Amino acid sequence: MKVLVIGGGGREHALAWKIAASPKVQMVFVAPGNGGTASDLRLKNVPIEGVQALADFAQAEKVSLTVVGPEAPLAAGVVDLFRARGLRIFGPTQAAAQLESSKAFSKDFMQRHGIPTALYQTFADAQAAHAHVDKTGVPIVIKADGLAAGKGVVVAATPAEAHAAIDWMLGTGDSATPLEVQHLACSDGRVVPRVVIEEFLEGEEASFIVIADGRNVLPLATSQDHKRAFDGDTGPNTGGMGAYSPAPVVTPNVHARVMHEIIQPTLDGMAKDGIPYTGFLYAGLMIDAQGRPKALEFNCRMGDPETQPIVMRLKSDLLDVLVHAADGTLGGVELQWDRRIALGVVMAAAGYPHAPRKGDAITGLPAVSPDAAAEAVVFHAGTTKEGGQLLTSGGRVLCVTALGESVKVAQQRAYEALAPIAFDGMQFRRDIGHRATKAR
Ligand code: AMP
Ligand code: GLY
Repeated sequence: MKVLVIGGGGREHALAWKIAASPKVQMVFVAPGNGGTASDLRLKNVPIEGVQALADFAQAEKVSLTVVGPEAPLAAGVVDLFRARGLRIFGPTQAAAQLESSKAFSKDFMQRHGIPTALYQTFADAQAAHAHVDKTGVPIVIKADGLAAGKGVVVAATPAEAHAAIDWMLGTGDSATPLEVQHLACSDGRVVPRVVIEEFLEGEEASFIVIADGRNVLPLATSQDHKRAFDGDTGPNTGGMGAYSPAPVVTPNVHARVMHEIIQPTLDGMAKDGIPYTGFLYAGLMIDAQGRPKALEFNCRMGDPETQPIVMRLKSDLLDVLVHAADGTLGGVELQWDRRIALGVVMAAAGYPHAPRKGDAITGLPAVSPDAAAEAVVFHAGTTKEGGQLLTSGGRVLCVTALGESVKVAQQRAYEALAPIAFDGMQFRRDIGHRATKAR
């Protein structure tokens, strides 16, 4: 079977690495891929961009299954186009992907279907948004409506921060450089910048990702991300500086509540609204001290870096599962998991997250491991191969991931595997897994 993985980050390297381990695979193409996928002989990078060109390629190469990594091609309708051409693809349609691409859509959806989430209001008018902040007080959370490459959320501790975030996202006031947001057009075709302002929730976050075929849903192992740039969960928000699986905060009781109160109502609600959900569905959760889960957000894709530890624990044939999911035959499928803990540490470029530098030479990298049973694997993200040399080419550069019998052992193995790797200006957190080691 020929498979196409769309994307070029750490998540896509991990997905392609796992899919390539299937005995049914003949070739895994990655578009565009990265330096890691370029170094694995089972994978082939193809420099293709744009949904039309991707569909042309899948057709010409007789690709049996396409798996979409990032949100942008989903929001651009890649699944709709492939399906219209009779090509098998796993992911949500453009309409279903609004669960991620529009905060306003997703909050309205949750409210309509009784899915627990933070109280919120949506504003297109800056004056009304400012007045709302003055009335409600802080802490408060301001979110841009639209895809903002992970930068569209400000948790404001002071009124000044909240007001500045509103102006930054709406391009009002004296905001010199407004946030770049890919806004979605309203049903009448107009594009109106909007912000969602929501209640600040306290608790512990977890990532809960499932595979959905429109009707059936199969939960993946739980995980926990580390969003802040620096140790002790300080510094700016990032795409994620490290992750591990499973997340101890998701006890069996919390797991059952999440499935019953959040995941199943979302699948049912989407089907009822006429936009059945197929694809990975990622619920970002906040779990309070009493074990009550609320949905902070939905993503219509796997998490990055959550995917890296999750696939290292997955024993089942991922390709088989995704084919079932794409064909609507997930019912009865079960997943086998390694009982060990997997933990991944992200190594980021100088200047990440605000202005990552590119082009630094990376040394000390181990050979890319095709071994599905390896205890440690270095997944690449922002890397590129130029004349045999690996260079940094993006914010998050690598995710060094390891398995261990405990969080401590997994942590130790990951940091040992990371130690020989170096590039100018590299940054990584030294405390990935700290919540789990405390919980134990
Ligand atoms: P989001 O992209 O919506 O997941 O938001 C990014 C991050 O902002 C989350 O991972 C949380 O750490 C934080 N956050 C978002 N919404 C809230 C909220 N209502 N209360 C507290 N923290 C939040
Ligand atoms: N690591 C968070 C995300 O993928 O959205």
